Amino acid sequence: MPRQFFVGGNFKMNPTSQGQLDSIISVLNSADLDSTTEIVVAPPSLYLIPLKQTVRQEIQLSAQNCFYKESGAFTGEISPAQLVDSNIPYVILGHSERRSIFHETSEIVAKKTVAALTATLKVIFCVGETLEEREAGLTTEVVQNQLQAAVSHLQVTDWSCVVIAYEPVWAIGTGKVATSAQAQEAHLNIRAFLSQAVSPAVAENTRIIYGGSVTAANCQELSTQPDVDGFLVGGASLKPEFVNIINARRIQG
Ligand code: 13P
Repeated sequence: MPRQFFVGGNFKMNPTSQGQLDSIISVLNSADLDSTTEIVVAPPSLYLIPLKQTVRQEIQLSAQNCFYKESGAFTGEISPAQLVDSNIPYVILGHSERRSIFHETSEIVAKKTVAALTATLKVIFCVGETLEEREAGLTTEVVQNQLQAAVSHLQVTDWSCVVIAYEPVWAIGTGKVATSAQAQEAHLNIRAFLSQAVSPAVAENTRIIYGGSVTAANCQELSTQPDVDGFLVGGASLKPEFVNIINARRIQG
């Protein structure tokens, strides 16, 4: 079975008003979207529940983070159980901004991943190297270490609810997109790692999506790579060009 193309919009801490959010969503609601693409948008958490009423059905919602406890004295956090109760199917975990700005270690990300999957959420699990790590030839090692933390804690069956997002830190929000060859090489390495560390079937079936300065202008070429199964889009997901990214595979005919 071919892997279903997956495009996620990570709005990060944007936009700053309900009106701007309505404009972004109305573009998506009226667009001709490729029905073969799985589409997910991740707005700031306070917009998740109102968005369920306004966004078209084909677009699923994701949180940008959650904690690993179900409830309790954890000021500022939201739990996997609360997301499930609110019918939010996805959560992004391990984003490089969470790792670097909020000091989330791979172990914390793994704990969150286990908690989210146990609560029946699907997880967009982010990995990626910094520029220094790439220049030091450490890309594969860094990405494998980030994955290993999850691999050690997950059951084989959990992987059907995981999408891996390869997001090189040097490409996020910088306008410096990975070349399609760089993305393909990293994705192939991730698949090879999954094959050896989990199973060949999990490696074959798990979607590995690319994130980092994806735009309407570069998405088509990236999407022709055999191991690029979609995108996690930041800045461009707030703009009308997000529609072209969702339709990247269809435009090729
Ligand atoms: P940009 O598309 O703005 O580079 O962000 C990518 C990203 O971090 C998606 O999670």
